[in-house]
Amino acid sequence: MEKIIYILLLIILENDFYKDVNTLYNPTSYDYLVNKNNKLTSDYIPDDLEIINVKYSCENKYLRKEARINFENMAKDAKKKGFNIVAVSTYRSYEYQEKLYNNYVLDKGFYYADIASARAGHSEHQTGLAIDVANESLDYDNFESTKEFDWMKKNAYKYGFILRYPKGKFHITGFKYEPWHYRYVGIDIATYIYKNKLTLEEYKSLNKK
Ligand code: DAL
Ligand code: ZN
Repeated sequence: MEKIIYILLLIILENDFYKDVNTLYNPTSYDYLVNKNNKLTSDYIPDDLEIINVKYSCENKYLRKEARINFENMAKDAKKKGFNIVAVSTYRSYEYQEKLYNNYVLDKGFYYADIASARAGHSEHQTGLAIDVANESLDYDNFESTKEFDWMKKNAYKYGFILRYPKGKFHITGFKYEPWHYRYVGIDIATYIYKNKLTLEEYKSLNKK
């Protein structure tokens, strides 16, 4: 039912998703916007990717250095309190995202693909700053019902991560609610976004020079 509502919204909303797309060339900051209107080039690979400590990931997973350090600190502090935060999807290449998106289209149809998966070049996962998490079950689809999600909701910003696709912001982000997907933006910006209940899109438009 929820999926149908999102799909109807996508059709009904006179939106500008995937129109007037801006291309980003080798961005280096931590708060830049990658979404349906801002894309990375097919050859963009962050040059500071580092592997996440296997204690906090399900297999070899990479993030940009600063995001990797903050993620590990977050997962370590969570673990001390009895919460297991595990990285299940992190950096993805352009080609890998292309396959994922195409598989969504084949499996679930074009409209569902567009509310659940970014087209190649438009995924935050290519930035090396985004991470999908789960608890030890590795079942990110059910992350919302875990105690780890409650902990992340209250604490992720302290480590520079924001919940990137919150409930009720579909008209802005263009993606359905994803309780498992977090984006590293740095601690100051994450704190501002968290306290003001913003999306990254809203934060960026407030801070346009
Ligand atoms: N699921 C998110 C939107 C992505 O594909 O990047
Ligand atoms: Zn994700």
